[in-house]
Amino acid sequence: MENEGGYIPLTEQAQAFISGHVQEGDGAIDATVGNGHDTAFLARLVGAGGKVFGFDIQPAAIETAREKLARLGLARRVEWICDCHGKLARHIPEDWHGRIQAVMINLGYLPGSDKRITTHPRTTLAALSQALDLLSPTGRISIIAYTGHGGGQEEANAIGQWLATRLPGQRRWRRVVPGGRRSPPQLFLIGQGQPPTDRQCDNPKKKLVPATTP
Ligand SMILES: C[S@@+](CC[C@H](N)C(=O)[O-])C[C@H]1O[C@@H](n2cnc3c(N)ncnc32)[C@H](O)[C@@H]1O
Repeated sequence: MENEGGYIPLTEQAQAFISGHVQEGDGAIDATVGNGHDTAFLARLVGAGGKVFGFDIQPAAIETAREKLARLGLARRVEWICDCHGKLARHIPEDWHGRIQAVMINLGYLPGSDKRITTHPRTTLAALSQALDLLSPTGRISIIAYTGHGGGQEEANAIGQWLATRLPGQRRWRRVVPGGRRSPPQLFLIGQGQPPTDRQCDNPKKKLVPATTP
């Protein structure tokens, strides 16, 4: 659904990018559970035989999300981890290493909660680096960075810089930035082989936002 700015919300674009690449029985990571929207999305994709590893540093966020997914009958598909995503790898069982099919990272602070509890470039980059190690060769990562709060622009810049210089050769990435807004959020899409295109986002709507690729 388009918002009043005339573009498809980046959260929807991120889910569209991930959706066709996760199947029943797969493993996935939500590195920032928050209210659990992406956790529920991933839990539906992996099915009863799969596993979602959900991280958040706020116990209240984990609890709210756990209750929400319990109401949806999805909570048992999730392993809830109340810890910093900078320690991603040590929480993922070894038999999932190299087999994770999707990682979703929605940065910033939890809306309606303490804005001082926000993500930081150092741990975000640690999570990104470890996520790539955990990812299957065909796996995908989406990251949404919000630039309108203190430190948000620096975090988005750090991700772009890291991807431009450190991304392993077999992976490709692309940045989506909605036009016509001050301090727009940024969506980073990381996949395998050719740079992910709008078509690969599996989004039937043609009116995708203008994108920049460094
Ligand atoms: C924008 S919210 C995520 C929204 C979520 N994807 C959803 O669907 O509702 C960002 C979340 O990141 C969490 N967070 C901040 N720093 C973190 C860290 N270092 N490790 C894990 N979670 C963190 C915050 O507590 C907050 O809940």
